[in-house]
Amino acid sequence: MKPIGKVLCATGLLVGLLAYYWQDPFNPESLAGARVLLTGASAGIGEQMAYHYARFGAELVLTARREAVLQKLPQPLLPGLCSRPRPNWLMFSCCQPVPPGGLDYLVLNHIGANRFQMWAGDVEFTRWLMQVNFFSYVALATAALPTLEKSNGSLVVVSSLAGKIATPFTTSYSATKFALDGFFSSLRHELMMQKKNVSVTLCILGLIDTESAMESTRGKVHIPASPASEAALAIISGGATRVQQVFYPWKLQQVYYLWVLAPSNQVLQSYYNYSSP
Ligand SMILES: NC(=O)c1ccc[n+]([C@@H]2O[C@H](COP(=O)([O-])OP(=O)(O)OC[C@H]3O[C@@H](n4cnc5c(N)ncnc54)[C@H](OP(=O)(O)O)[C@@H]3O)[C@@H](O)[C@H]2O)c1
Repeated sequence: MKPIGKVLCATGLLVGLLAYYWQDPFNPESLAGARVLLTGASAGIGEQMAYHYARFGAELVLTARREAVLQKLPQPLLPGLCSRPRPNWLMFSCCQPVPPGGLDYLVLNHIGANRFQMWAGDVEFTRWLMQVNFFSYVALATAALPTLEKSNGSLVVVSSLAGKIATPFTTSYSATKFALDGFFSSLRHELMMQKKNVSVTLCILGLIDTESAMESTRGKVHIPASPASEAALAIISGGATRVQQVFYPWKLQQVYYLWVLAPSNQVLQSYYNYSSP
C-alpha cells in the first residue's frame, strides 16, 4: 500500500475509534410531541420505527398501502393512520401530506418489492422501482419542505449500503438508492447555502432481518443480518441528532471507507452465492 493509503487507513481507524467511544448525543425526550410522518410503516424497519417513535411520545402519521395491516398495529399508533388501496406509490395523495399543525420529521422508508437476482433485462420493472423508491421520495420531500422549513425540521431518508457500493443481484434497487444519495446530498448543500435549517439524514443500512429481506436473500448471501428494531433506533437517533449520514450496523462505515481505499471485486463477490445455470 502507498504511504498516502496508509495515512488514510490510519486516519479512518482513528476516526472510527473516536466515533465509537464518543457519547451518544441522542436524547429520546427530544421526540416527545414531535410531529412525524413515516412511510412504509406496515412492516419491517418502518413498523419498528413506529413503535420507537410512539414510545418516545411522538405524534405519528403512518403510511402504507395495506390498511388491514396498519389497523393491526397496537392501539396507541392507530389515530395517525393513512392508507389507500393499491396500485399506488404516491401515497400522500390520499391524505394530508403533513399532519395538521405542522411537521418536524419526514421519514422516507418505503420500498417496492425487490428482486434479488441477476439482471434479466426488465426495464419496465426498473422504471417502476424508480417511481416507488426514488421519485415518490422526491415528491414527498418537495411537498413537505415548506412545512419543515417553518419548524426547522428534518428529512430522514432510508437507504442502503447498496446505494454506496454497487453489489450483485441489486441492479435496479441499487440504482434507486444511489439516486437517493445524489438527490438528497445535493439538496442538503442547497438548504445549507440558503441558510434553511432543515437537516437531511441519509441512512446507510446493511442487511437487516426483516421478513422481506430474509426471504429475498435466502441462500444467496453470506452476510449476517442485524435486528430491525436496532436499525430503526439508529435511524431515529440519526434523524433526531441531525447527522448527515447514519451507518448501521456501525462497522459498515469502516467497510465503506475500506472499499473506497482498496476496492476488491473478488472479496465483495465472495459474499454472494452464484452458480451458473
Ligand atoms: N431489510 C434490509 O435488509 C434493508 C437493508 C438496507 C436498506 N433497507 C432499507 O430499509 C427500508 C425498509 O426496508 P424493510 O426491509 O423494512 O422493507 P419491508 O419490510 O419490505 O417494508 C416495506 C414497507 O414499504 C411498503 N411498501 C411496499 N410496497 C410499496 C409501494 N409500492 N408503495 C408504497 N409503499 C410500499 C410496505 O407496506 P405496504 O405493502 O402495506 O404498502 C412496507 O410497509 C427500505 O428503504 C430499504 O431499502 C433495508
